[in-house]
Amino acid sequence: MQKMLIKGGTPLNGTVRVQGAKNAALPVMASAILLKGQALELDNVPDLQDVRTMAELLQRLGAEVSFTDGRMKISVPEDLEWNTPADLVRKMRASSLVLGPLTARCGKTVLPLPGGCAIGSRPIDFHIKALRAMGARISLRNGAVYAETDGRLKGANVAFDFPSVGATENIMMAAALADGSTTIENAACEPEIVNLANVLRGMGVPIFGDGTPAMRIMGQNFLKSSRASVVPDRIEAATYLVGGVISGGKVKVEGIEPQMLAAALQKLEEAGAKLTLEPDSITAEYAGKLSAVSIKTMPHPGFPTDAQPQFMALLSIADGTSVIQEGIFESRLRHVPEFNKTGTKIAVQENTAVIEGVPEIKGAEMFATDLRAGAAMILLGIAAEGVSKVGNLDHVWRGYEDIIGKLNSLGAKIKLIEE
Ligand code: EPZ
Repeated sequence: MQKMLIKGGTPLNGTVRVQGAKNAALPVMASAILLKGQALELDNVPDLQDVRTMAELLQRLGAEVSFTDGRMKISVPEDLEWNTPADLVRKMRASSLVLGPLTARCGKTVLPLPGGCAIGSRPIDFHIKALRAMGARISLRNGAVYAETDGRLKGANVAFDFPSVGATENIMMAAALADGSTTIENAACEPEIVNLANVLRGMGVPIFGDGTPAMRIMGQNFLKSSRASVVPDRIEAATYLVGGVISGGKVKVEGIEPQMLAAALQKLEEAGAKLTLEPDSITAEYAGKLSAVSIKTMPHPGFPTDAQPQFMALLSIADGTSVIQEGIFESRLRHVPEFNKTGTKIAVQENTAVIEGVPEIKGAEMFATDLRAGAAMILLGIAAEGVSKVGNLDHVWRGYEDIIGKLNSLGAKIKLIEE
């Protein structure tokens, strides 16, 4: 197995540029499915495992995808395949984002149900309920979703029990080609939702209220070629900022607006970091001590669940006892036993972690349980005395472009080994 070998105890100092957001690139790439004989051109696309999987999925459906130096062009023919390739869909949960656009554009889709993972069962019942409200006939059998519609989907008034990011994105894309207008109540408000809305606007879809819980999409019967940029990755930015503080150093992340991660920055400051905010960059500096804070992960603009493991790592060496409540996923605390191998003192009660800060942690061998937990384990290894190893790196490659190069450029001592 490939592992990272991390020699800890060195502060991180310096500047890194933020990549394009994985969670913006994936839905935006899926929106190209809505085009017929047109093309979607994107820049600032991060070179990640999941992005390459989505590109391969689009190619298997019949699109042409070119991708070099962050620039991507997706050329879509008149006809696309509607039967999605199970091998790729099972590899990436975000494949569920093709359900809405493919059903709207082909009138028919078969999508193997994306499996659950370490952070939860990842159901798509909200997606299915909303597509049914738009006139799709959907059945679930032998582990797949079968969707069909006679003619175009119909605009509908959709209300979500929970502001699901993926469900909001799927319905936005389905509504773009629907007959009539669609309203979404309790829509997700993440910056990645606004990015998708801007891409759809570029294709000729009038959209109102994106970034707020109430959205309206005016369906069109033809969408045109468009060009757009992928927004910066606020979670990658938060990861490097925590890295600077947990290691006793000072890190600047460039190419990110502070507003995109306001809730996370507020907690970083509460924990004792010294922040410097500029329109297009953020600097976080260790300022002599770390204090316990309480966090509850919430839908945007609340504290992002994708930054939860990284902040748990930081708080594990703060003075005092912190509490983190995971309010989004039903089991996103699986990384705690791995963290505790380094001497952290974290206890889990249902969806709450109680973190008793310790003065120092020792290097240990850890195995990533999901993408963000893997990144957090790397940060623990950098902060710990001695040597650490992190395995199950496939999780990490899915969402962090050149993470070893970026961390080593800040002074980390990380190399890849085979064991
Ligand atoms: C997106 O996942 C992100 N992934 C996740 O990032 C992120 O953690 C999550 O949003 C929350 O912000 C991508 O954008 C590709 P949800 P998604 O639908 O859309 C429940 C990362 O590390 N739910 O907002 O799957 C669900 O189980 C990943 O980059 C239903 O019950 O998240 C969860 O508890 C991890 N039924 C909650 O809602 C549904 O039909 C939020 O899920 C849909 C969701």
